[in-house]
Amino acid sequence: MDKKIVIGDELGERLSQELNLPFIDFEDKVFADGEVRPRLAKEEKADEAILIIQKKQGENINAYLIKYLLLLKKIRSFSQKTIALMPYLPYARQDSVFREGEPLSSLYIAELIERNADAFVTCNMHEHRKKIGDLFKIPAYNIFLFEDMVEKFKEFSPSTSVVVGPDKEANAFVDNFCKNFPASKLIFGKQRDRETGKVDFIYPQNAEKILEGKDVIIVDDIVSTGGTILEVAKIIKQFQIKTINFAFIHSIFGDEVINQLAVTGPKKIIFTNTLENVHYAFDIVKPLARHLLEKQMI
Ligand code: R5P
Repeated sequence: MDKKIVIGDELGERLSQELNLPFIDFEDKVFADGEVRPRLAKEEKADEAILIIQKKQGENINAYLIKYLLLLKKIRSFSQKTIALMPYLPYARQDSVFREGEPLSSLYIAELIERNADAFVTCNMHEHRKKIGDLFKIPAYNIFLFEDMVEKFKEFSPSTSVVVGPDKEANAFVDNFCKNFPASKLIFGKQRDRETGKVDFIYPQNAEKILEGKDVIIVDDIVSTGGTILEVAKIIKQFQIKTINFAFIHSIFGDEVINQLAVTGPKKIIFTNTLENVHYAFDIVKPLARHLLEKQMI
């Protein structure tokens, strides 16, 4: 029988327990000049290794990425096959050359990952202009977590709720949310000025009628500065809604954004631990394990 192992951090350890596989930890050192030096607790011959590391709060995203790439290469020396599992894929939003002279970063990062991986797994990759299969040549899987996260909203009835997406690209994950929570949906339009960064939102004329008296759940894949979700919340609050709520996957922000979201008076703010954040409410370990098994990756 093939020997499979999980290598990673605390999240990886819990995934290994869920999958009933051996686990290898690593020491995470950052030198004074910012260079990283991850060190595996041991090297163990394996047929398949899953590397899973969560970006820590306050950790530089580039340091996270380099650490991940160094470990991927190291694992090659003792494992036949490696599954790179990055709960959040850095640089996925740079999925186009928006202005001449820019690198197509999402593609270039994918090329670095696949150099030492046989398969790639991530959660709710930002698939706006590029799908996961456009970035990776190795088998790559984008796990949609909203269909599991809806369990946190079961006190709401779909018939009296509206799920709101901030832009047309949100359609895919709003649909995924509604798969197990068949509420009506409302999708905003978002336009960003590339020079100034200023964002404008467009919404249908009948938005007031759709939202009146409803439990409104604003969903987004990523919350970074909070600008997008807060602007949509501001528009929604003009209407006579029943409650306002937030559901998102990746929390790039610090506590300041949580405080700003709290000012809008939400009933629920639900997000995951794809990135480290002590306030997370939805743990990804069980859905990750289930998806890996379903896709027969382990
Ligand atoms: C954009 O297309 C994404 O789906 C998010 O809406 C965006 O990245 C959120 O960023 P911020 O919180 O900085 O507005």
